[in-house]
Amino acid sequence: MQFGCILLALSGADINFLRLETEVEALLDAPGDARDRLQALCALIKASVPKYDWFGFYVARRGERLLDLGPFVGEPTEHTFIPFGRGICGQAAESRTTFVVDDVSAASNYLACSLRVKSEIVVPILDSVSGDLAGEIDIDSHTLATFAVEDRNFLERLAILAASDVQAIRQ
Ligand code: SME
Repeated sequence: MQFGCILLALSGADINFLRLETEVEALLDAPGDARDRLQALCALIKASVPKYDWFGFYVARRGERLLDLGPFVGEPTEHTFIPFGRGICGQAAESRTTFVVDDVSAASNYLACSLRVKSEIVVPILDSVSGDLAGEIDIDSHTLATFAVEDRNFLERLAILAASDVQAIRQ
C-alpha cells in the first residue's frame, strides 16, 4: 500500500490536470499584457506541479531560426537564446514535435542549465493558422523520467491555450 502511494506520487498521478487546465483558461482569459499573463501562468503551473522545477517559455524570433528566453520561473539560465537544432529546445524547434528526455545525462545534444536537472520535456507551440513555430514550453525536473503521458497531454493542451499570448510577445 505504502509502495503504491509512493509510485502514485512519483508518477504525478496525484495532480488534477483537468482542474489545473480550468485555472489556466481563467488566467489566460484575463485582460492585460500577454507577457504578464504568461509570467503568471508560469507561477501557477510551478506552484501546482511540484515536480516541475523549472517552467518557462522560449519564443521563436520572427524570420530567424532562433529561440529567445521568455517568461519563466526557476533558477536563472545562461541559455537566453538558443539556435534551432541546438539542445533539446533547438531540436524540438526544428522538428516541431514534443521531446521527452527521461535522463538528460544520456542525451548527446543537450544544453545543461543546472547539474540538478535529471529530466526534461519540451513542447512546441504552433501558430494556429500557419502552423509555424511560435515558441515552446520547456520544463526541467530534478527527478529522473518524471514526465508521463498525462503530463505530455496536459502540456500539449497548454501549448494550444498559450499560443496567442506567445505570438503576441514574439520579436
Ligand atoms: N536544457 C535545454 C536548455 C534550456 S534550459 O533547460 C532552461 C536544452 O537542452 O535545450
